Amino acid sequence: MARGTPWAKGSTVWVRQATPGSAADGDWRRGTVVSLDARGAVSVALEPAGGRGASSVVSVRAEDVEPANPALLDGVSDLTQLTYLNEPGILEVLRQRFSGSGSGVYTNAGCVLVAVNPFEELPLYGGEVAARYSRRRSTEDEAPGEPHVFQTADRAFKQMLATAQSQSVLITGESGAGKTETTKIVMRYLASLAGGTGMEDKVLESNPVLEAFGNAQTLRNKNSSRFGKLIEIYFNRGHICGALIHTYLLEKSRVVHQQPGERSYHIFYQLCRGADEAERQRYHLPVGPESFAYLASSGCTSIAGVDDAAGFGQVKSALTAVGIPPEQQAALFSVLAVVLWLGNVQFVPVHDDAVTVDQFTLPALRHAAALLGCSEATLLAALTTRRMQAGGEQITRELSMEAALDSRDALSKAIYAALFRWLVQQINAALSVGKQRSETTLSLLDIAGFESFQENSFEQLCINYANERLQQQFSKHMFKVEQGIYESENIDKARVEFVDNQDCVDLFELRPPAGIGILSMLDEECMMPKGSDSTFAAKLQQQHAAHPRFSHNAKAHGDSFAVHHYAGTVTYSCAKFLDKNRDTLSKDLVVLLQASSAPLVQLLAGDLQAAQDRKGSQTVGARFCDQLRDLMQRLDATALHFVRCIKPNSRQEAGHFDAGLVLHQLRCCGVLEVARIAQAGYPTRYLHHEFAARYRDLLPDKGAGQGADGLEVCRQLLAHFKVDPSQYQIGRTRLFFRAGVLGQLEDAATRMQKSALYIQSMWRMVRCRRAFLHARSAAVAIQCQWRGCVARRQFAELLLQHRAAARIQAAARGCAQRRRYRRALQGVLAIQMAWRRHVLKERVVQRITERRRSEREQAAQAAAQAKAWQQQEDTFEAIKRDFGMDAVDIRRVLGLWQAHGSAFLAWRQQPGWAGAQAAASQPPPLGADDSGLLLEIAASNADAEQLQKRMEGLQTYCHKLERTVDDLREEKQLLQRALHMLQADPAAAPHCQAILASTLSPKGARRGSRLPADAHGSAGLPPRPTLAVHADASGPHYESSTGRGYTESQDDRDDASSISLMSLHEDDGSVTTGGATPTAASLAAARDESCMVVGMLSREFEKKQALLLDDADFIREVRNGEAEAPGMDPELELQRLEARYKTWKKEFKERLGNTHRVFKQLKREERKVGYGASLASAHSATMAPRASSSVRGASGVLAHFKSRSKG
Ligand SMILES: Nc1ncnc2c1ncn2[C@@H]1O[C@H](COP(=O)(O)OP(=O)(O)OP(=O)(O)O)[C@@H](O)[C@H]1O
Ligand SMILES: [Mg+2]
Repeated sequence: MARGTPWAKGSTVWVRQATPGSAADGDWRRGTVVSLDARGAVSVALEPAGGRGASSVVSVRAEDVEPANPALLDGVSDLTQLTYLNEPGILEVLRQRFSGSGSGVYTNAGCVLVAVNPFEELPLYGGEVAARYSRRRSTEDEAPGEPHVFQTADRAFKQMLATAQSQSVLITGESGAGKTETTKIVMRYLASLAGGTGMEDKVLESNPVLEAFGNAQTLRNKNSSRFGKLIEIYFNRGHICGALIHTYLLEKSRVVHQQPGERSYHIFYQLCRGADEAERQRYHLPVGPESFAYLASSGCTSIAGVDDAAGFGQVKSALTAVGIPPEQQAALFSVLAVVLWLGNVQFVPVHDDAVTVDQFTLPALRHAAALLGCSEATLLAALTTRRMQAGGEQITRELSMEAALDSRDALSKAIYAALFRWLVQQINAALSVGKQRSETTLSLLDIAGFESFQENSFEQLCINYANERLQQQFSKHMFKVEQGIYESENIDKARVEFVDNQDCVDLFELRPPAGIGILSMLDEECMMPKGSDSTFAAKLQQQHAAHPRFSHNAKAHGDSFAVHHYAGTVTYSCAKFLDKNRDTLSKDLVVLLQASSAPLVQLLAGDLQAAQDRKGSQTVGARFCDQLRDLMQRLDATALHFVRCIKPNSRQEAGHFDAGLVLHQLRCCGVLEVARIAQAGYPTRYLHHEFAARYRDLLPDKGAGQGADGLEVCRQLLAHFKVDPSQYQIGRTRLFFRAGVLGQLEDAATRMQKSALYIQSMWRMVRCRRAFLHARSAAVAIQCQWRGCVARRQFAELLLQHRAAARIQAAARGCAQRRRYRRALQGVLAIQMAWRRHVLKERVVQRITERRRSEREQAAQAAAQAKAWQQQEDTFEAIKRDFGMDAVDIRRVLGLWQAHGSAFLAWRQQPGWAGAQAAASQPPPLGADDSGLLLEIAASNADAEQLQKRMEGLQTYCHKLERTVDDLREEKQLLQRALHMLQADPAAAPHCQAILASTLSPKGARRGSRLPADAHGSAGLPPRPTLAVHADASGPHYESSTGRGYTESQDDRDDASSISLMSLHEDDGSVTTGGATPTAASLAAARDESCMVVGMLSREFEKKQALLLDDADFIREVRNGEAEAPGMDPELELQRLEARYKTWKKEFKERLGNTHRVFKQLKREERKVGYGASLASAHSATMAPRASSSVRGASGVLAHFKSRSKG
């Protein structure tokens, strides 16, 4: 620690950031001393602003460094408990408490209560809180909890009851600091504490009245009290029994003029806005306050959030409550209206030094005169002229414009001031009921605090003078209290210093012969005929030039002087000092008021006259001096309690703490003086047991201190820490220390506390850590178990899910595959079916096409045949006509000829042809036709009878033939029609078939042929009609059959079997030619027929073979699924087909056998007739192999059929 400084390296200190008195005054930064040098410079590491950022190291002078209190004392409720009672320490505590919650707006500074205006409603003044403070039984009790204005009020009240001494609570502070609000809070608390008589309500109701008539909106406070007041509350046996209100320095000038943005007294606006219609008419009031010049000149007529109309009602009820009857209230408001109308009266110059009323403002004059109870002329004369005594003669002087306006304003101010006084008198009269019986009083002083503006006038001089007196009172009180404490504690009081401001008070109020103060000098100057503000200023400078509290700045503009107050230096401007001090009202105006018909105006006039008569030449300053003296005497007679109201910011906002402004107020209201007084003495005080309890732990031998009493422990501690005896005093109950002495102990205590805290924290940490580790391992074990359990459960579940999923997947895949397979299968089948259908269709189409082609060919052949037949018929007819031969015979001859020719040609192709070549020398045999014809001719010639018979036979046959020809013609026509139909529309083939079937069947059957039934009905295949042309001896006939008939009907077989030799006997195989003996011709015919039959059998075989194989293929396709035949059983059909072909084969064999037998028979017959042996042989040689090959072929076909149908 450096010598003379309370800080050392590492100490926490405050560093001043701005010079005192500057705008940033009060800006201190906390830091830690880094180093000290011999020249007094201190290096301090400043804490970062706002707790953020890096710290910076600055080098400052020692004067700009103040020691910081230990953190232990943060937010302490009594400033005197601070180890270092310096500016930053006090500011920091107030800031910390203000930023906190609850009653932190209040802080004790010894016997002074510091109240920081919260600018917001706090739940601090309810009945419960009041009850908590009022529960204390006596003043000796410890204060219950936090500092509070209730605590101060309660202390005063209990002290009054206990000591029967009157008490005073001095509530000071600058404008807007909360003096009036605090006064009301104290009054309410006292009313709740000592009420019950009903008087407390009247006392409380006086507040709205006084506020309405004495408060106004200013730039610093919406409800600024423009007067000082002392409320003496009288108590009788602990109950309020009356009150007396003293007022000081009402600001009269506000009635006629306000600063821009300020208002006149509230009552004017309340009257203008709250008056009812009757009142409005009575007082001639317009709609709003803007119509009055006195109210509108500042440009501000309303306050945000304040309802003037409602306020008027409250004022009226408060007036009633304080005992002012309605008629007096009406008179009161009438006088207020006079003031307002007077303000509207304007003058116009008449000639050089004379004015008269402006015609536009005549109504205002009229209303003012009417309300004042005088004539307009009288009022006008009083305002514009002045009567003077000159040598016993009364002369009337015209007033200038300025003088007339001053006269008007003076009248208004005087009326309002008198009205205010009268009102206070009325209230006092109402509150003074129990005053006589009162034993003690509790006074509340609500007076403006120290003021220092840019421009300070007479009002500030008076207020600051009052505050000097109050500060003196305060200092005396503090000294007295201090002395009292020291005396009671038996402490050497010679060490207590007291700084008095008596010299400053004297500068104001000293009177001759002791001297001449500022106010006395002002009074003197006011009495001087030629006195002026300048002469006053000059005299002041001359008189007080050497006074330490007085100074004059010659360079300053105008007449001004400065006074060095306890709270700072204030420069006053002397302008209008004399006028304000005189505050005279012309006699004419007083007379005017006296002559009024209105009783209240007369009363006011009487008051004004009495005041003038009483004081004679007494000025405002002198009067205020007397008032102050009287006030001081009253206060001296009481025990004092101080409440210092602090305004935290000039914006009147909640929660904002302006350190500079607060510091300035702390200086002005004397809180720093309290600190200084305390610092001068022994500011740090502890009860013995408190000190022992606080620092006992710092003793090395704790056992020694255990049994000892508090004082003994204190002594041990002081000895142990080697505290300089000059720095402390041991009182009867307390220890007293000089400022900062306990720093060493505090540091040790703080270190020990920190160490203890560190050890505790470490030990707690170890225990916590141990417990934590234990808990953690347990938790980990439990977690492991649980996680294992959960994992197993999850795994089992997962397994199940997996299996289920696998199954589902398999099922799904199977399903998908099946679906895909089915789709593919369906696709394949569809393609197959489509393909087969396509193939089948093509085949069917091909077959249909072939069939149609063959049908067309057949039809063409039939047509050609029919034509040939027709031509033949025609030829025959011609022959018949020409030769008398029957056409049939001719044909027969031609047929035989052709047969022989054919046989001959066949014979020539046989292998035996070579042998026949040997007989080439022989003439070639006749052709079949030639020989037959020759034979016939020969026979005809030889046997006419036989010929005749033959002719008859031929005719018969011819008839038959004709019928047949007729039938054929019909059929031809039919066929032609069918052919036409088919050509026109191929799709009409079935229809044509049906027509042909229905048409040809009977005739075909008659001719041994008929249409077969639809063989495809069961198979569902489309019918395939074919026309098979069979030639027989009686001519061609047509047979309809299905080309593809695996169910070929028996008719086919019949048809086939019907192809037989016309002349063959079916039963024995003998050859007959019309019942006659066979001739060579008949034999030849029979042979030809046989040849034809063999050819047809051969064709039938081929046809059957094709059908069989075709049907077998079809059945096999159906069985293999290569073709569709719904409803068909392939096996059954195969069996049927096989059975059918077996039957056919059997029949075919029989027919072949028959044919063979015919041929044999023919051979025999030929041999008998000796003709054509070679031909028969040739026939048999030609036909037999064909027939046998056909039979063999049938067997082979059947075998082939079996193998194919199985395959
Ligand atoms: N204890 C409080 N709680 C809440 N608000 C308060 C308190 N004290 C004062 N205020 C607020 O501060 C404003 C000013 O207070 P107040 O009128 O008492 O100031 P003042 O010191 O009397 O000022 P002036 O000297 O101009 O009369 C009040 O209108 C009120 O809004
Ligand atoms: Mg006030």
